[in-house]
Amino acid sequence: MASALGESLNITAGSRPEKVYCRLGDPFLVKLGAMTVDKITLNDGNDIPQLGFGVFQVDPEKTEELVAEALRVGYRHIDTAAIYGNEEGVGRAIANSGIPREELFVTTKLWNDRQTDAAAALDESLEKLGLDYVDLYLIHWPCPDNGNYVEAWKQLIELRDAGKTKSIGVSNFELEHLEEIETHTEVRPAVNQVELHPYLQRWRELDGFRDQNIRIEAWGPLGQGKTDLFDQPEIADAAKAHNVSPAQVIIRWHLQNGIIVFPKSATPERIAENFDVFGFELSDDEMTAITALDRGEEGRGGTHPADMN
Ligand SMILES: NC(=O)c1ccc[n+]([C@@H]2O[C@H](COP(=O)([O-])OP(=O)(O)OC[C@H]3O[C@@H](n4cnc5c(N)ncnc54)[C@H](OP(=O)(O)O)[C@@H]3O)[C@@H](O)[C@H]2O)c1
Repeated sequence: MASALGESLNITAGSRPEKVYCRLGDPFLVKLGAMTVDKITLNDGNDIPQLGFGVFQVDPEKTEELVAEALRVGYRHIDTAAIYGNEEGVGRAIANSGIPREELFVTTKLWNDRQTDAAAALDESLEKLGLDYVDLYLIHWPCPDNGNYVEAWKQLIELRDAGKTKSIGVSNFELEHLEEIETHTEVRPAVNQVELHPYLQRWRELDGFRDQNIRIEAWGPLGQGKTDLFDQPEIADAAKAHNVSPAQVIIRWHLQNGIIVFPKSATPERIAENFDVFGFELSDDEMTAITALDRGEEGRGGTHPADMN
């Protein structure tokens, strides 16, 4: 697969690429066979582990235990948010892990009702996490009807400059929202975290983000457990061929596409399983077959960014 890296996709608006995982215009290594997570260098020079652990809908009472398990298994990247209500559990797991802070990558997010109040909101998150800084702070949703996301972005720039967060980014931003913040600040987000899985692949937007050197993070990478993705023959057959689970196939598909991914599980066995994805490689044919599962907008399982205000 390494030989395919760097090939051009030549995507035009609205089209689906013939090859899906090759358009990585910067140094990017997949260490096949190595049980290590690759790091991706963001546009601000900071590195992010490509595979992490997400804690949306993880019960606050169980968060400490599950994040501790994830850290024990080897995850070093945790994705939480103020709205998840479990930052304290994430913080306790980190504090008790004994892992040096600089080896961890912690993301949290600014909730929609704090877009004019980001400094105080981040301070509250840091207090709950028990940290002096986060590695990545995201605007959770643009909420375009409220008209505050440009102001929020300006505040995030200040928070980054003050050292409260190493990197800043956005989530659920469409290209028009990205253009708007860049017009006003000339600062590009390091990442855009969007719903992304085999049923919703959004190649046109992804191409635009990549052209701007904005890294894509996939939320709902497994379809949030709400779809029949695991039963699709393209995924089930690949799982059988590699003697892995359908979830592992999908995570591998994200990784081979150069996408940053942090599947969530509240099940210890699955937490370990989802990290055990470096001992096999999907072939070009398998990647292409999974890409053909794209349903466009019909594949969206969550809220469209225009409708979240
Ligand atoms: N920015 C945003 O707006 C946004 C929105 C949603 C999510 N996120 C982030 O993205 C992360 C991941 O997305 P997500 O949590 O929504 O969904 P997801 O990771 O796509 O799916 C989680 C679901 O898949 C199941 N699952 C996990 N591993 C499995 C395996 N190996 N086999 C079978 N089932 C498995 C989980 O079940 P169990 O838990 O029962 O094991 C859970 O029901 C979140 O945790 C959060 O950090 C961000």
